[in-house]
Amino acid sequence: MDKERMVEEILKLKEQRRAIILSHNYQREEIQDIADFVGDSLELSRQAAGVDCDVIVFCGVNFMAESASILSPEKVVLLPELEANCPMADMVRVSGERKVWKSFPGYEEQPTFSFPHNYTLLDMKKEHPDVPVVTYVNTTADVKAESDICCTSANVVKVIESLPQDEIICIPDRNLSAWAAKNTKKRIISWDGFCHVHDRVTVADVEKARKEHPNALFMAHPECRLEVLEMADHVTSTSGMLRFAKQSDAKEFIVGTEVGLLYRLRQENPGKVFYPLRRDMICPNMKKTRLSSVLRALKEMRYVIKVPEEIRINAKKALDRMLAIR
Ligand code: 13P
Ligand code: SF4
Repeated sequence: MDKERMVEEILKLKEQRRAIILSHNYQREEIQDIADFVGDSLELSRQAAGVDCDVIVFCGVNFMAESASILSPEKVVLLPELEANCPMADMVRVSGERKVWKSFPGYEEQPTFSFPHNYTLLDMKKEHPDVPVVTYVNTTADVKAESDICCTSANVVKVIESLPQDEIICIPDRNLSAWAAKNTKKRIISWDGFCHVHDRVTVADVEKARKEHPNALFMAHPECRLEVLEMADHVTSTSGMLRFAKQSDAKEFIVGTEVGLLYRLRQENPGKVFYPLRRDMICPNMKKTRLSSVLRALKEMRYVIKVPEEIRINAKKALDRMLAIR
């Protein structure tokens, strides 16, 4: 089936099913084009919690669809590609062994991970009793259920500051934790996870990009390493980058995040130029969803993501606490 026909079918089915298509900023251009809403993790959580529809087709990775199911249990939440995972989310488990990861495309340097495979979130909580757990939304629902409050890259510092304690556990991203620690006086105890798309960026990459584009401002996502973030003109979430680029007087930008964001940046700022920091900042999981996946999802109503009620209740508390912070 050609592209136009597929889009037609999707739009027809969408209406019949009273469905809404949500897309993360890293999705393929063809997906962003058909979505009702494109945004960062925080914006998508807010949409999932408040949108009026029967079905949510979540074009992103599985933890995002899980969050939609947690926030809107009365709706059918569909993840068009069941294998669209987030490797960082798989780096932490409540109990039992976490997944073994080996290497990722484009990540020449073998990343190190300091916890043994059987070290769990429950072990960490036991080692630090009474320390609240702030959980990045890039985690599975059971991990959220064991947490006090969630955060995204857009609100991590605000979330930490909202808690009365001076010591905070932050999971699972060591880079986001390091960034948060730099921006708060509180003591941060971090899990040792990372996003392979952002963690691969080095100081040398930034130096090279700055040399090639001396007039460009450098925007970096807080999933990059701290030494990279310290070189940035602005550190923010994906939608934060969209806002920054729009408001700035600068005409050129180096973009330190997944390359999918360049589509919206270019669309929304026709007079400005955007350079990827590294062309291989590609999240293979975010790219699994295609038009054919969305069409199949709506036709066959799959894959339904439903978080079990006993996990959902506690996970929702952690998400609701985050969403209450403005
Ligand atoms: P944000 O869109 O919240 O910045 O998230 C980045 C990300 O890695 C999502 O998987
Ligand atoms: Fe996970 Fe990184 Fe991909 Fe986001 S970009 S889904 S954090 S691997």
